[in-house]
Amino acid sequence: MKRRVAILISGRGSNMAALIEAAGASDFPAEIVVVISNRADAGGLERARASGIATVTIESKPFGKDRAAFEAVLQTTLDQHRVELICLGGFMRLLTAEFVQHWYGRMLNIHPSLLPSFPGLDPQGQALRAGVKISGATVHFVIPETDAGPIVMQGAVAVADDDTAETLADRILGVEHRIYPDALRLLAAGQARLEGEICKTEGNIGVGAVLISPAAT
Ligand code: GAR
Repeated sequence: MKRRVAILISGRGSNMAALIEAAGASDFPAEIVVVISNRADAGGLERARASGIATVTIESKPFGKDRAAFEAVLQTTLDQHRVELICLGGFMRLLTAEFVQHWYGRMLNIHPSLLPSFPGLDPQGQALRAGVKISGATVHFVIPETDAGPIVMQGAVAVADDDTAETLADRILGVEHRIYPDALRLLAAGQARLEGEICKTEGNIGVGAVLISPAAT
């Protein structure tokens, strides 16, 4: 049985689109049953509809600081669609600790840095200002702290001297679109399991690959 997944978005939804595309494969262990946005103008909603996925908008603005009331509506929607796993894809609304605890181990987020480096806003700019030579993206289980939690998968890119936040973001986005579907596949297939605060993966895929930046000539 495929695991039933909701994707939560606030914007363009390119990660959402990558997840929808991957989940279209017959052997993918999860199906996207609903895309939920907290903004009616999120570009991703149209993309989801074009793919034949059910969409729901729950405008968060009218709820103001009452996060629990917003999440009560959100939880009802998740229940209606019998959602088992949640993927946050550029979902820009903070969630309460209660909601996050309820979904612990069943809710993923993606962030465009190699966490725990550079959480929060403008991670690509943070990476450039720190002068790191390698950056990337991280898929992690969601915990109450923002952009933190057990890491499921990471992908790395080299940082070039002439990178801007935009060029680096573009390169990292390409990695995001690869690792988010792969991480969801692992979770849905039961191949990613939590041991305390660490996520372990069956097979330890990827060990042996090395990225050196800058490459000495
Ligand atoms: C992505 O780069 C994602 O990693 C980032 O927002 C963007 C959403 O793009 N998320 C965060 O920064 C979370 N702290 P998308 O709507 O095209 O997927």
